[in-house]
Amino acid sequence: MAVLEVVACLLLLGYCISIVLSKWNEIRYRRKGLPSGTMGWPVFGETTEFLELGPNFIKKHRARHGTFFKSHILGCPTIISMDPEVNRYILMNEKRGLIPGYPQSCLDILGKYNIAAVHGSTHNHIRGSLLSLIGPPIIRDKYLPAIDKNMRSFIDNWDTKTIDIQDRTKEMAFFVAFKMILGKEPRSIYEAFKSAFDKVALGTLSLPINIPGTNYHRGFQGRKSIIRMLKQIVKERRASSTVQNDMVDQLLSNEDSKYKLGDQEIFDQIITILYSGYETVSATSMMAIKYLYDNPRALQQLREEHLAIRERKRADDPIDWNDYKSMTFTRAVIFETSRLATIVNGVLRKTTQDIELNGFIIPEGWRVYVYTREINYDPILYPEPLTFDPWRWLDKSLESHNHCFIFGAGTRLCPGKELGMVTISTFLHYFVTKYRWELIGGEKILKFPRVVAPKGLHVRLSKY
Ligand code: HEM
Repeated sequence: MAVLEVVACLLLLGYCISIVLSKWNEIRYRRKGLPSGTMGWPVFGETTEFLELGPNFIKKHRARHGTFFKSHILGCPTIISMDPEVNRYILMNEKRGLIPGYPQSCLDILGKYNIAAVHGSTHNHIRGSLLSLIGPPIIRDKYLPAIDKNMRSFIDNWDTKTIDIQDRTKEMAFFVAFKMILGKEPRSIYEAFKSAFDKVALGTLSLPINIPGTNYHRGFQGRKSIIRMLKQIVKERRASSTVQNDMVDQLLSNEDSKYKLGDQEIFDQIITILYSGYETVSATSMMAIKYLYDNPRALQQLREEHLAIRERKRADDPIDWNDYKSMTFTRAVIFETSRLATIVNGVLRKTTQDIELNGFIIPEGWRVYVYTREINYDPILYPEPLTFDPWRWLDKSLESHNHCFIFGAGTRLCPGKELGMVTISTFLHYFVTKYRWELIGGEKILKFPRVVAPKGLHVRLSKY
């Protein structure tokens, strides 16, 4: 009897504890004026469900709470906002107290001058410098020729091979950006940089626990190696009279301009450029290859566009700005790929004060997840939203539609949009004019939280 009583007491105690735990966050974060929603368990909130179910987690909550609700994910109380108008308002109103809210691991490893870590006048300065570095005039005159040359050498001799296009597009994105930034540095520096950068990329997506063996720790080690290499390179460049004509030289020669950066800012700017263009460019390129394979009519039209460019040239002539500007269907394919695959699911903001949003009061320090994924599948904006239909983008007004958030909006609108476009267009140019391909294996592609093929995406190539 006594044993039964003890068991019953333990069960009751367990039940009470679980009730308290399940209500803990609700009580802790209870405030007047918040939208409805659920806060999950202490510390973890609803993170596990969010990461496991992804878009279905959000759909489930929308069905109960509407397009603006609260939750607790990735360690923070968070508002999830899906309404296009509200999202636009958030992105346009950084000054009212809605600054970027990326995870601490990300900011620690990418550096305190990383563009996502700064706001106000410091953001204006860093962003101004970035735009002067990668704006369209300089891409046209300087970087497009470099991208063309490096893309051609990178993509050569792949025929009769089976390749993992996910691996190759990642390497392509890194290689092309590295060459643009540090053009003439030797292969050994490239290899060391790549290996350190891989650690950085992993570290930014990890829990911020800085002990040996964790990805966060490795990310820091990667950052340290990159900074060490950059310090040495900058020292050598300053001591030398030879001009390398790459982005580092450009940054160093800006010393008298209004966008002069200190050394630490230069290092973080370089890491930012490498990091921001890495997964976005590689995943878009990989998915374009997949969608084009699945849609032969789109592939044919794309190939015709590129063969027409080649016909105007000798075999080894590079593509120039006019060629790039004539790639209207290619641009449409890239936009449609970014939309359908949802390369970026949303962006994060953080409130710097209590702020009224959509009729609610959001407390200071809360995250706001500006979730833009569903807008990509809005049947009014994109009829038959699940169909790969690049032709829809030939109507130019779609790109500048108020609710097109593929490259963000407002003060943080992607400054690398044109650079990314040029890189992917050049990749597609050489890929479709050199090769035919066949997807093998039917490998799975996950679309949340990032677009990734866990076992790779294998294609068999032959000469075109
Ligand atoms: C082609 C694929 C790309 C896509 C889909 C894309 C998408 C985006 C989006 C959605 C944002 C807004 C982030 C926010 O509001 O918090 C953004 C910002 C940014 N992107 Fe891109 N991006 C791409 C390529 C690039 C490239 C190649 C670069 C290289 C420099 C780049 C650099 C940046 C930077 C530095 C920001 C932050 C801007 C700021 O905070 O002011 N992006 N991008």
